[in-house]
Amino acid sequence: MQLNRENMPKHIGVIMDGNGRWAKSKGLKRTMGHKQGVENLRTIVKECKRLEIPFLTVYAFSTENWKRTQEEVSSLMWLLEQYMTRELKELHKEGVRIKTIGDINELPESTCKKLTEGIEYTKDNRDLTLTLALNYGSRSDITQATKLIADKVKNGEILLEEINEETISNHLSTNFMPDPDLIIRPSGEYRLSNFMMWESSYSELWFSNINWPDFGADQLQQAISDYQNRDRRFGNAK
Ligand code: FPP
Repeated sequence: MQLNRENMPKHIGVIMDGNGRWAKSKGLKRTMGHKQGVENLRTIVKECKRLEIPFLTVYAFSTENWKRTQEEVSSLMWLLEQYMTRELKELHKEGVRIKTIGDINELPESTCKKLTEGIEYTKDNRDLTLTLALNYGSRSDITQATKLIADKVKNGEILLEEINEETISNHLSTNFMPDPDLIIRPSGEYRLSNFMMWESSYSELWFSNINWPDFGADQLQQAISDYQNRDRRFGNAK
């Protein structure tokens, strides 16, 4: 597919949805869907790198996902650890910087350790920043930003009158990345589910009926192509 290299999104967010349904449709356990979801993440990371997209943020575990069975939560944590163990060298070679958003300290200690090691190991890479949203929720992130700002006001570090939109953005855990240009949600669901709600004010949203494990490079290209045909006005008149 022919894409306009002059008008590529700088930041793509993906809600990796539909792993469970993918597994069910094949008579497999849900955990197999997540395993395949990780396989697919590999494909999409490669494609983003090839297309020179500098930021990719994927929703891997939400603050609400703790409600799932112990078996499913454990399997997701195990997959994450495996990913950080098996893929780290390759990601590093590809110039990928790994970052996280969300409170990873609440994840199992071994998972948190692997993630911290991966973040440290790849910290100087800049070709592609792959951010894993883990134990992440936008409302929770906005709440913690509010607390940080309130504390600074209390201590006299910031004046109340000085608080503006930039102050909020700078105190969110996403403060190292540009706002997402494009947010993709596969699997036929049409909502943001607490994903980068502040940051997505002017994001283009793109939905597909395909489940995440089947969401290939061709789908990503289609999403970008459609994005390039959208008219982004940011509130301006035509
Ligand atoms: C949504 O599908 C998917 C998740 C809640 C987890 C996504 C996580 C991964 C792909 C693996 C994470 C690991 C790494 C290495 C980032 P669902 O289970 O809600 O699917 P369903 O809606 O069809 O049930």
